[in-house]
Amino acid sequence: MSPVPAPGPAARPFVTVSYAQTLDGRLATASGSSRWISGPESLRFAHELRASHDAIMVGVGTVCRDDPRLTVRLVPGRDPLRVVVDSTLRTPPAAAVLADGAAAGTVLAATERAPAERCAAMRALGATVLALPAGADGRVDLGALLAALRGRGVGSVMAEGGAGLITALLRARLVDRLAVCVAPKLLGAGIEAVGDLGIGDLARALALRDLTVTPHGVDLVIDGRVVYPDRAEAGEADGW
Ligand SMILES: NC(=O)c1ccc[n+]([C@@H]2O[C@H](COP(=O)([O-])OP(=O)(O)OC[C@H]3O[C@@H](n4cnc5c(N)ncnc54)[C@H](OP(=O)(O)O)[C@@H]3O)[C@@H](O)[C@H]2O)c1
Repeated sequence: MSPVPAPGPAARPFVTVSYAQTLDGRLATASGSSRWISGPESLRFAHELRASHDAIMVGVGTVCRDDPRLTVRLVPGRDPLRVVVDSTLRTPPAAAVLADGAAAGTVLAATERAPAERCAAMRALGATVLALPAGADGRVDLGALLAALRGRGVGSVMAEGGAGLITALLRARLVDRLAVCVAPKLLGAGIEAVGDLGIGDLARALALRDLTVTPHGVDLVIDGRVVYPDRAEAGEADGW
């Protein structure tokens, strides 16, 4: 499938979720270590995907654990806007997404629970802070975040994790495309890539269509459009 459909008059950006998992569905070890589950060829694919999206999104858990730069380095291309979903602004000021001038290309998506002084400190570093509505769990309302990004001209978002963000996006049916790198490794106990989606019946499983399965070194990348069975039954059109 083409990397990203042309932006249309949608209320939110096109959303791709992409991550690397082990054969037994783990995103990281039980202690949170995930570098590197995938091999160099898959990492290159991940950077190509970054370069083909307007924004790249992670949860604050990933920023605190991995301190990613969220830039395009392994292929030519521009850096997408960085978006950190961070209800209370606990992103460390020294994090790579803020340090050394990176803050100017970073959006912190927060809620009213974020302390005002923290907000001011992040803005002083050059970051954009969005004060967004909270969902029932007190965390950032992801639909509202995507609408706000769309309002800022963002046509496509690549969400890279971690588990909390991936699960919340899928549960909210906000994912259009899934590109999962499966590495031939087993971890046993560890952090599962996707948590509870409230699916008790196999017929309600989310499915992938227009699938490609591509070897990248020893890894396989499974890439397709996400189909939500209940949405299809209700005759709802795809978001895109
Ligand atoms: N293998 C891979 O490809 C890959 C990729 C990325 C990360 N990882 C691994 O994933 C692990 C981190 O995963 P994680 O689940 O702890 O963290 P995460 O998904 O990166 O971040 C979750 C945090 O985001 C914030 N958040 C705000 N609004 C949210 C919402 N609506 N839904 C969900 N989260 C929201 C919450 O913190 P607040 O309540 O404070 O806002 C939440 O605790 C690390 O071990 C990392 O190495 C692996």
